[in-house]
Amino acid sequence: MPNLFDPLTLGSAVMRNRIAMAPMTRNRADENGVPSPFAVEYYRQRAGAGLIITEATQPSETGRGYAGTPGLHSDEQQAAWKQIADAVHGEGGLIYLQLMHTGRIGHSSLLPSGRQIMAPSAVRAEMDVATATGEMVPAEVPLEMSTSDIESVITDFADSAERAIAAGLDGVELHGANGYLLHQFLSSHTNRRTDEYGGSVSGLGRFVVELVTAVADRIGGNRLGLRLSPGGKFNDMHDTNNEETYVELVRQLDGLGLSYLHTLRGRPTPLHDQLRAIWNSVYMVNTGYQGSSEFDVLNQLIVDKVADCVSVGRLFISNPDLVTRWRNSLPLAPWDEDTFYFGTEKGYTDYPNAETA
Ligand SMILES: Cc1cc2nc3c(=O)[nH]c(=O)nc-3n(C[C@H](O)[C@H](O)[C@H](O)COP(=O)(O)O)c2cc1C
Repeated sequence: MPNLFDPLTLGSAVMRNRIAMAPMTRNRADENGVPSPFAVEYYRQRAGAGLIITEATQPSETGRGYAGTPGLHSDEQQAAWKQIADAVHGEGGLIYLQLMHTGRIGHSSLLPSGRQIMAPSAVRAEMDVATATGEMVPAEVPLEMSTSDIESVITDFADSAERAIAAGLDGVELHGANGYLLHQFLSSHTNRRTDEYGGSVSGLGRFVVELVTAVADRIGGNRLGLRLSPGGKFNDMHDTNNEETYVELVRQLDGLGLSYLHTLRGRPTPLHDQLRAIWNSVYMVNTGYQGSSEFDVLNQLIVDKVADCVSVGRLFISNPDLVTRWRNSLPLAPWDEDTFYFGTEKGYTDYPNAETA
C-alpha cells in the first residue's frame, strides 16, 4: 500500500516522496521581476519536498498582476532561476516553475506604460486589487483579448517554459486555477466570447488546450503539469454548471502525456472524482483552504487512491524540513501570515529546521 513517503515517477523525473511544496507567491522579487537573492536559500531549505512548485511567475511583462512577483522572460531572470534550480538540485530535490498570467486580476500601473489588463471578455472582477504602489483600488474593466493577443500570450508561455528548462528547472506548471487567465477562459462567467474561444464546452476549453499543447510541444509533456481549481470561487469566480467543461478539457489533455494534473480539492465534489478517473498520469491534490493538511488526512488520500501525491502550502513556509518532521512525528511550527508577502528574510528564510529549533 503506497504512502506519502514512497517515491513516485513524475514525467521524466522521480519524486523521492509524495509531498510537494505548493506554489506560493511571496512578492520578494525586485522591480525587474528578478527573484531575490534570498530565494535561493528559501528554496534550498525546502528541497526535502518530493517536488517544489515555485511561486507564480509571469511569462511576460504583460502577464504581471502583482508587485514583487518574479518573471521568466529575460536573461537576468533566467540566471537567477538557474541559481535556485542548482541549489535545489544540490540537495537532491526537484523543482517545477509555476507560470501565471493574471488576466483581469491586476492593475494597469503594474504593466508597461500604455498597456491595459486583458482577459477573455470585458468582465470586471467585483473586487479591489493592488496597484504598483500597493494602494487598493476597484479592479479595472479588462480589454477583451483579440485572436492575435491570444497567440502572443501562448508564445510568451512557450518561450518562458523553454527558458525554465534552459535554467535547469525540472519542468513547468501552468497556473489554471484561482481565477487567473486560464481559469477566466474556462468559466462562462468571465468568458462571454462568441468566437471559437468561447461559447460551447469545447470553446471554453480551447485556449487552455492550445496553450498546453504549445508548451508541451516546446519542452515535452513529461516536463509539464497543470493546476486547476474546478468550482473555485477565489478572485470573484462564479462557475456554475461547469462540470462538462472540465470533463471535456481533462479528457482532451489526458492524451498529451503531461507529467501531472494538480487540482485544488478543498471541498470535494463528484467532479473531482470524475477528473481523477479520467486522468491517466500522476494526479496531485491540494486540500486547499477548506480542507485539512494534517498528515493522516493527506496520507489517507494516497491510501484511498484519491491522489498519487499531494501538495502542501503554508506548512512548508514555517517548516522547511516538513517531510523530516512528519517522518519522525516531530512538532510543527506555526506560520506567521504577516510575513507571507513582501519583505526580506524575516518569515522567509529564518524558520529553523527541527534539529535546531
Ligand atoms: C502565501 C500564499 C501564496 C500563494 N500563492 C499561490 C501561487 O502563487 N500560485 C498558486 O497556484 N497558489 C498559490 N497559493 C495557494 C497554495 O498553493 C495552496 O493552494 C493554499 O495555500 C492551500 O494549501 P495549504 O492549506 O496547504 O496552505 C498561495 C497560498 C499562500 C498561503
